[in-house]
Amino acid sequence: MASEGKVAVVTGSSKGIGLATVRLLKEKGFVTIGVSRSGGGEAHEELRADVSSKEEVRRVVDYVVSKYGRIDVLVNNAGFGVYGYFWETPLDEEEYEVRTLLLGVIYFTKSVLPLMLRRNYGAIVNVVSEAAYVSMPTLLVYSSAKAAVAHFTNGLWASLKGTNVKVSGVYPGPVKTDFTSHPSFKNTEPKFNILAVPPERVAKAVWKAIRTGKREIYVPSKLLIEPYFLKLALSLQSLTYFVQRSIYGKKVIF
Ligand SMILES: NC(=O)c1ccc[n+]([C@@H]2O[C@H](COP(=O)([O-])OP(=O)(O)OC[C@H]3O[C@@H](n4cnc5c(N)ncnc54)[C@H](OP(=O)(O)O)[C@@H]3O)[C@@H](O)[C@H]2O)c1
Repeated sequence: MASEGKVAVVTGSSKGIGLATVRLLKEKGFVTIGVSRSGGGEAHEELRADVSSKEEVRRVVDYVVSKYGRIDVLVNNAGFGVYGYFWETPLDEEEYEVRTLLLGVIYFTKSVLPLMLRRNYGAIVNVVSEAAYVSMPTLLVYSSAKAAVAHFTNGLWASLKGTNVKVSGVYPGPVKTDFTSHPSFKNTEPKFNILAVPPERVAKAVWKAIRTGKREIYVPSKLLIEPYFLKLALSLQSLTYFVQRSIYGKKVIF
């Protein structure tokens, strides 16, 4: 996709992967619109909105289309995780987590996709997670929501075959961001494991997704092996947990 002057909307733009993505897309010549609850960040225009609210998402999309006339790229990235064993974590916060991670993606895609299809042009990139395929015991609702986003992305990818509107999922492993700033991580001493990458690596993968429309992109790419391995040998999941726990211990979150 040639990018000069094209309009890209990035959710969760105030920090982390979203901020790195905005910076990269600006370098590539995009007009960038960021979305987050705080409204911070470095996009050409930063909008304050909560992606878990379909009214707020609708308002953002209407505003962008009326001002810029088009949306060429949508990066669904906003998200957070509630940490802890399922029987200890607060349900209200988990409901909000699901609304943000899953419904936020659905609301934005529902609003933007018809516009792209009308022009037969555009790219949607969903920032998913390796947790979509390897369910994390202490991020269980998070993993479940990401698995649903992966299903949503793959099915949409298939249904848009033959059009010039592309949908991709980017699947990071651990990334060095503020992800652990959610209050549920307090007192957990979380450590990132040795695979953790800087958010700029994920931004590059998002850019690759925009250019290629590839269905799944893993960051780092060696993670590619893990989901397919697990799909082929689900019976080994218990063994995987055992090995993870033996190597990294209970305190490691990814
Ligand atoms: N870090 C990792 O290890 C990792 C690994 C795999 C996947 N991911 C995924 O990558 C995405 C970005 O996470 P990150 O690591 O960059 O975390 P981060 O540094 O905490 O950034 C999260 C971003 O999402 C925004 N956000 C959160 N909830 C929102 C809501 N309801 N409405 C609007 N904006 C919201 C935050 O802004 P405000 O607080 O201002 O709203 C912030 O801009 C998430 O979907 C996460 O699940 C992260």
